[in-house]
Amino acid sequence: MTRMLIIGPPGAGKGTQAVRISEELGVPAISTGDIFRANIKAQTPLGQEAKRYIDAGDLVPDSVTNRMVRERLGEGDTAEGFLLDGYPRNAAQVEELDGILQELGQELDVVLQLTADNEELVQRLLGRAQKEGRTDDTEDVIRHRLDVYDAETAVVVDLYAQRGLVREVDGLGTVDEVTRRIMAALA
Ligand code: AP5
Repeated sequence: MTRMLIIGPPGAGKGTQAVRISEELGVPAISTGDIFRANIKAQTPLGQEAKRYIDAGDLVPDSVTNRMVRERLGEGDTAEGFLLDGYPRNAAQVEELDGILQELGQELDVVLQLTADNEELVQRLLGRAQKEGRTDDTEDVIRHRLDVYDAETAVVVDLYAQRGLVREVDGLGTVDEVTRRIMAALA
């Protein structure tokens, strides 16, 4: 299985695990959050447009995000597979991804859903704030991001579950334990 999504609330460990799975399976990990942050750092027009939404913990408008993902998935390194982290994040993005993959003649193999309880998520992200200083890792914004996940992104799991693609993995425990669970779920 090489065409995958990893989905879960903020702090579930998507980015941490995506790097490991991508190395294990030899497919690129594509994180929409990372692409936005790289553009903010480089002060590109895309970054300038995305920054106020990210700082507030809101979703960047679909028109901006969809265009960015379409371009990225069109790059040659995704021909043999990919691991998308942080996209799609609402029902409209699911529809857009369906269209992109259809144009590329590809289909999703699996959707990995990482779970963890909200207090663990908040503690992880507050811990990261002290080390990395992400502008959206303040307690208010973290809690808002969790609300946005429930209101807009949880439905994405339901939509893929209806297609039989979702494998739920417990995101609690050490990073190594979670990686082992993921690899077992993919086996
Ligand atoms: P994004 O970058 O995707 O952020 P997020 O979903 O809030 O997720 P995080 O990166 O905070 O957490 P994660 O689950 O990746 O966990 P991580 O491995 O980092 O998006 C940021 C923003 O960009 C959005 O709010 C939105 O504005 C915009 N955006 C992105 N995609 C978009 C889209 N499709 N549409 C519209 N807007 C979009 O780990 C977190 C911390 O926990 C780390 O410190 C890590 O070391 C630690 N940790 C990880 N695993 C464990 C473990 N097992 N035990 C203990 N600690 C752990």
